[in-house]
Amino acid sequence: MADQALHSILEQMTLDEKIAQFMQLATPFFEGAEEEGEITGPMAEMGITEEIVRNSGSVLGASGAKEVRNIQEAHLRNNRLGIPLLIMADIVHGFKTIFPVPLAIGCSWDMELAEKSSEIAAREASISGVHVTFAPMVDLVRDPRWGRVMESTGEDPFLNSEFARAFVKGFQGKNLAEDTDRVAACVKHFAAYGAAEGGRDYNTVDMSERQLREMYLPAYKAALDEGCEMVMTAFNTVDGIPASGNKKLVRDLLRDEWGFDGILISDWGAVKELIPHGVADGEKEAAEKAMKAGVDIEMMTTCYVQHLKELVEGGSVSEELIDEAVLRILTLKKKLGLFEHPHRGADEKREQEVIMSEEHRDAARELAVKSCVLLKNDKVLPLQAGKKIALIGPFAQNGDILGPWAWKGSREKAVQLYEGIAKRAGLESLSSAKGCDVAGGTEEELKEALALAEEAEVVILALGESSEMSGEAGSRSDIRLPEVQRELLAAISKLGKPTVVVLFNGRPLDLTEVSHRADAVLEAWFPGTEGGHAIADLLYGFENPSGRLTMSFPHNVGQVPVYYNCFNTGRPQGAPDAQERYVSQYLDIPNEALYPFGYGLSYSSFTYEEPVLSNKTLKAGETIDVTVRITNTSEREGEETVQLYVRDLSGEVVRPLKELKDFVKLTFKPGETKEVNFTLREEQLRYHHSDLQFASDPGEFIVFVGPNSAEVKEQSFTLVK
Ligand code: GLC
Repeated sequence: MADQALHSILEQMTLDEKIAQFMQLATPFFEGAEEEGEITGPMAEMGITEEIVRNSGSVLGASGAKEVRNIQEAHLRNNRLGIPLLIMADIVHGFKTIFPVPLAIGCSWDMELAEKSSEIAAREASISGVHVTFAPMVDLVRDPRWGRVMESTGEDPFLNSEFARAFVKGFQGKNLAEDTDRVAACVKHFAAYGAAEGGRDYNTVDMSERQLREMYLPAYKAALDEGCEMVMTAFNTVDGIPASGNKKLVRDLLRDEWGFDGILISDWGAVKELIPHGVADGEKEAAEKAMKAGVDIEMMTTCYVQHLKELVEGGSVSEELIDEAVLRILTLKKKLGLFEHPHRGADEKREQEVIMSEEHRDAARELAVKSCVLLKNDKVLPLQAGKKIALIGPFAQNGDILGPWAWKGSREKAVQLYEGIAKRAGLESLSSAKGCDVAGGTEEELKEALALAEEAEVVILALGESSEMSGEAGSRSDIRLPEVQRELLAAISKLGKPTVVVLFNGRPLDLTEVSHRADAVLEAWFPGTEGGHAIADLLYGFENPSGRLTMSFPHNVGQVPVYYNCFNTGRPQGAPDAQERYVSQYLDIPNEALYPFGYGLSYSSFTYEEPVLSNKTLKAGETIDVTVRITNTSEREGEETVQLYVRDLSGEVVRPLKELKDFVKLTFKPGETKEVNFTLREEQLRYHHSDLQFASDPGEFIVFVGPNSAEVKEQSFTLVK
């Protein structure tokens, strides 16, 4: 459809019809809906009229080829100009084949697999009638008390940007009109939602614009540079103004400075929430502020449809602002080919053939293997088949391993840990007992578990959080395992048996006690549909762990926030002239994380020689080659994620102790040595100055190379202008 055709539709639209395009409603409001749609936010009394539904622009949470076709057909019958609906839903890490949660995918450091996971998610969703997914979520996170860290890929802006690009590529492909197995992506939550004070969801976010641009904005920009079609505004304030009414953040930065001319959708109710935030005295002012800020679609509240007409007729809001927003919505419908093919990829026959196919499940299993992180292994893993195993814990036989954003994923179809281990160990070697629930238990359950453990040669403890304990509105002030699980671990560890803890959780936990009591700890996160198979493959050595953390694990919640790319302070602990007491430290725990960014063990072992630089000085436009010889000193083939960090020793503003600038994943045969090469460029040394100029400064730098952010070898170099 040509652009002028869109303009001619716009010219025919009444003001009411234009404004109704801004209304996004959940499925239950629509004729043809079979079941309740996705309800992920507070449902206020909506005051919706038939006319509003007839003219609304998009649906939230519909899926299923039959249902979506029914909804679209009914809508096209009722809509005067035959403008099709956009069908939008949260497909964050899988549609029905559920992949590990994004914080786990982040630990794979594997962009190809990340892209593949979102391509498969898009295919399953599009076949089921979905046009747009509310993903990727690229919020940078540093506070594990926040329940939504599981949706993020972690604490580093460079790595988050790489994943943002990979997910958008997978969701959208190259041409949304032609490739109906893809969906439009919607990067979220703009901006800096992950910096909620106290890790308490929806709480205040307040930071300098320089910090915002340096750490929190890069991944959104990367998603948009990759062509992401939509942006979702966050619930939180940014510099004192809620994102959905923040003209400086949205219209000035996102639209004018970055040139984003796609659709901006508010998060659920976020337009109306300008009122409780205290920046709008009512829905009319909320509507005015959000529209002037640049929000096109209002999700699940009705400030726009109730008040925009009056604001336009009263001259407070110009109709060209309305027309711009309508055109952005019509343009995405055109890009998706909906005017010609309103049902797009919805196909009941293909739903049966493609969804949860073996190919899709194999991809989920592969990514789950790559996403698990081996945190500790005192020579108990890999396990030998035939050993008597007692599998104990609330996640021994539990399908709640998909995470809080699995929506259409089926817990019943998830491979539980018991099933996976039975396949690898043999049923005759395996006994199992719950020992306790996630957050409660009985003496009998404990006794039964201890009895099994007594009889076993190895105990596998499957512990963790239920999916309700993280995700949206899932903030926790105590990030340890629930007490009953800690008691189970304490009782089991007293038996003196080799004890392996497998963790199912959505955040970095305080694992201080677990790390002392267990002989091995495998962080499995919420591993998705194929979790049981993937974990068993790792425990029994059919796969070699390769995951590396992308979010630091604190010693305890009192240490939060702890992250690798922190500043040195004026009184750094451990400096040559540091005093005993008057330095930046805690009296009771180390400053370093319990498990740092980039950390993860494998069944192989690697040695790194000193990095060699091709030059000790770097000029703009030139490069320095950084070469490191790495040897697999074990008997086992293994994959290593070699990480390159840089430190600017003296900037115009303080600069982080380390910044990840590159990495490479390489497989080494037993005994194999490889020369790993990186190329350093001046562009990688640029940062936001106090005047927000993005540039590098001449001076001394250190380059670090290592298996994680804490164990590195270094060389210095000088940047000269
Ligand atoms: C929720 C979430 C957002 C999601 C939206 C629609 O409140 O904050 O991530 O996409 O509502 O379900």
